[in-house]
Amino acid sequence: MGILNDDMKRVIRQQRMGFMATVSADGSPNLSPKGTTTVWDDDHLVFANLGSPGTIENLRHNQACELNIIDYYLRKGYRFKGTAEVLTSGPKFEEIKEAYTTGSRGINRSGIPAHGYVLITINKTAPLQSPAYTPGKTESAMREEWTEYWADVQETNS
Ligand SMILES: Cc1cc2nc3c(=O)[nH]c(=O)nc-3n(C[C@H](O)[C@H](O)[C@H](O)COP(=O)(O)O)c2cc1C
Repeated sequence: MGILNDDMKRVIRQQRMGFMATVSADGSPNLSPKGTTTVWDDDHLVFANLGSPGTIENLRHNQACELNIIDYYLRKGYRFKGTAEVLTSGPKFEEIKEAYTTGSRGINRSGIPAHGYVLITINKTAPLQSPAYTPGKTESAMREEWTEYWADVQETNS
């Protein structure tokens, strides 16, 4: 069994969004959204480099990274810490490219040409839960509250 459990995989696959933090050469943080983030296997996440020059540059001098992925309705999720490898050629690159191109391995097919793929070995995970989970607050009550909130937002924005 790997480090990623079934609930982590559910959240990652459903959300289709990971916020990826890396460390810049001057030590400052760099955070950006990666909508192609998904599960590769029990110990690895992956995303397509569609346009992330800062992240890729940072990983060349420091492989350390962290992704945060949360269920916005349940207000719960996970932190994933690890090390990332930038793949632009070779057998693993081809395998991942095939999965994004064909939609195999449960990966959502992407028609956007990628500059490469970032494969992240996860070495530490931690759950995230909103402090709004006060005693007695259930997941279904939380989901109902935020479903209503987002419906209102969509109505306001439409
Ligand atoms: C909703 C959304 C999804 C995105 N998904 C990806 C992605 O999967 N891969 C990618 O390389 N860039 C993606 N981007 C674009 C990068 O986040 C954006 O170009 C960012 O400025 C890159 O920052 P960086 O160069 O510091 O990595 C996405 C942006 C948004 C708003």
